[in-house]
Amino acid sequence: MRIQYLLIALAITASVYGQFTCSDAHASGSSAATCYCMAGYYGTSTDASGSGCAACPPGSNSQAATATGTLVSSCTCYDSNAQLKSDNSACQCMANFYGTPNSTSGGTSGCTACSNGQTAPAGSSTNVCAAATTSTKILSLIALFLLLAILI
Ligand SMILES: *[C@@H]1O[C@H](CO)[C@@H](O)[C@H](O)[C@H]1NC(C)=O
Repeated sequence: MRIQYLLIALAITASVYGQFTCSDAHASGSSAATCYCMAGYYGTSTDASGSGCAACPPGSNSQAATATGTLVSSCTCYDSNAQLKSDNSACQCMANFYGTPNSTSGGTSGCTACSNGQTAPAGSSTNVCAAATTSTKILSLIALFLLLAILI
């Protein structure tokens, strides 16, 4: 009986004074079940056992995951016209923009928008903006025609 009281008292003391030490140095939490990536890191799962939190690539950042379990699975590029590459390795200009993303927080965008109606793939570093090709237009006309034929 006394030992149980002692354990409860210890647990309360630990939760008040002790910050749980997560196995991942880039995670923090109050218990193994609530270890989450710190600001500037992202992960694919809560980190109770491993080293699941990876640093955001240059020019990006992340909010600290909350202790209630919000998962931060990727980072946000500082440049508002940029996005992370699919492998999270770096920031690149979004589709229909070209250039080099500004890696300074709050800086002016290094990605320039294509002029009206022109498109460019995500990750374009030079001006490769081009009008939608005529074959695309012809295909959409054929699709429209087929749709009409089906409806009639
Ligand atoms: C990034 O933004 C800063 C602040 O607006 C600006 O001084 C700098 O020239 C920018 N760098 C690039 C590469 O666009």
